[in-house]
Formats: sequence, C-alpha cells, structure tokens
Amino acid sequence: MENPNTLNHLLALEGLSKETVTSILDHAVGFKEVSKRRIKKVPPLRGVTVVLFFIENSTRTRISFEVAAKRLSADTLNFSASTSSLSKGETLLDTAKNLMAMQPDIIVMRHFAPGAAKFLSERIPAGIVNAGDGPHAHPTQALLDMYTMRERKGRLEGLEVAIVGDIAHSRVARSNIHGLLTMGAKVRLAGPRTMLPTMIDRFPVSVHDRIEPAIEGADVVMMLRIQKERMGKDLFPSDREYARVFGLDSQKLKLAKPDCLVMHPGPMNRGVEITPEVADSTQSVILEQVENGVAVRMAVLFMVARHLGVSEE
Ligand code: CP
Repeated sequence: MENPNTLNHLLALEGLSKETVTSILDHAVGFKEVSKRRIKKVPPLRGVTVVLFFIENSTRTRISFEVAAKRLSADTLNFSASTSSLSKGETLLDTAKNLMAMQPDIIVMRHFAPGAAKFLSERIPAGIVNAGDGPHAHPTQALLDMYTMRERKGRLEGLEVAIVGDIAHSRVARSNIHGLLTMGAKVRLAGPRTMLPTMIDRFPVSVHDRIEPAIEGADVVMMLRIQKERMGKDLFPSDREYARVFGLDSQKLKLAKPDCLVMHPGPMNRGVEITPEVADSTQSVILEQVENGVAVRMAVLFMVARHLGVSEE
C-alpha cells in the first residue's frame, strides 16, 4: 500500500494518489522557508549521494535539483552526457551500473527517450527521480506548477486551468493533466490541431483548437513552448502566424479572470507563445515557479531518501 509520506521512485504523476501529491506539496511548504534563511542548509540528507544524470540539456531542472540536494546537505555528482563515455558507445545501462558502483543513493535522470527513468528503476538499486523523459513525463515540473497554483489561489480543487500550445510534444502538459485531474482541478487544452494528442479524448478535459475559448474565465493560463526539437517537420506555417493565433498577449489575457495567473515552464520563446509584456506582467508567476521548484525538489528528494531509510528526521 502507498505510504503518502515516502516515495520509492518518482517516475510520473499518473497513478500517484491525491494523498501523496498533497504530502509532497505540504513537505515543500516546510522546505521553502529554508531558502529564505541566511544559512540555506538543513541536515536531513547528510551522507546521502545524489547523481544528476542528465542526458538531455536543462537549465532550470538540473540546477534546481542540485540546489535542492545541497540545501538538504546531500553530496551531488553531476553527469554530463557530452563529456562522458556515452559518446564512445557505452550503453545507458552500463553507464548507470558504473555510477552505481560508486554507491549513490538517488539518481535524478533526464533523457530524451520516453520510459528511460522507468527502465533504470527496474534495473538499478537506487531511488530514481524522473527529471523529464522525452515527451512522456516531467513530474517535478507539474508538482512545482501545482505548488505555485495552490500557494497563490489557496486551493487546486475546482480551479479552471488552461494549458495552451504544443500539447502533443509536452511532458509538462501530460504531467500537469494527470496531477491537476487527481487534485480536482478542471483542465482545458488549446493548440493547433497538429499539436493536440490523438488519444486526448480519453481524459476528462475540454479541448479547443483556438486559444480564446480555452482561456475565457480561466484561473490559470499555462503557456507551452513549441518543441521543434521533437517534431519531424513544421506543424504550423510560421512563428509569426503561431504568435497571432495562439500567442498570449495582453488583449487575449483580458478574456481570463482579472486575477488569472500566467505560467510557463520555460524556456520561453518570447514573441512566439507569449509576449514579453505578458511574461513580465504582474500576473506572471514564471519566476515564482522556478523558486518553488527548489522547495518541491527538496520534498521529493527527502521523501525518496526516507523510503530508502537514509534520511535523518
Ligand atoms: N522547465 C524545464 O524543464 O526547464 P529546463 O529544460 O531548463 O530544465
């Protein structure tokens, strides 16, 4: 039976209970305060080793996990794919087994292949945290997004959340859909037909091929980057056309509630999916999302370490 106060791994939000998601967010509330102190360090992960195993590029997620681990007093090892022996043909599994020979406790992994974190979790005796596996899942991003919504709005239940853009290639959208529905929020999706997933009708969400009906009366609008690196070919005529039809500008934002939060997981394409004016407006919580990411990742690392029996209480 799932213990909501521990995590054996964190691979996806799909299947995670409301109690466990709530527990992660509640733990993060306590950890957020640590980053406000002059000495930003607490001891629970003393003697714990966390490997940051990033095979795909990252700014926010990798640094945020490293800051989170260090604030919990863990030791961190950074693995850089471009300077590793992966480039000499060593397999992912052999690479991971060699890392394991150095006795780490937790592996935080980002990879371009869907299922990569699960693959490792079934073969390696460490706690595995998925930091993004291709278009499949990005659970800590969705957790920090939900943390930010709950902190600002006081609840998740009943919130009207619009997710706009390249839904088909977005692990952020997929994890948010699972997490938000588990927590009782209402989800609306909008994007060009070419960027909407084929199986989306399996989910209790509303789907729109225009931005306006999706953001009308919304409590939160989450804009997504077009993931050109995951597309075989262009799925829209031009950036300019995309910005005109699906980009969020001040005029379109007036359709949402006056206190609607504007979110974006980053990296942003300013002037494409979001105008600089909106990205830098008082309604934007984009940098709060990044700040909250540290607290949420501290909570996740702590709960995985607790499951492994290596945390200090
Ligand atoms: N939001 C996010 O995953 O950003 P990075 O790719 O920079 O980690």
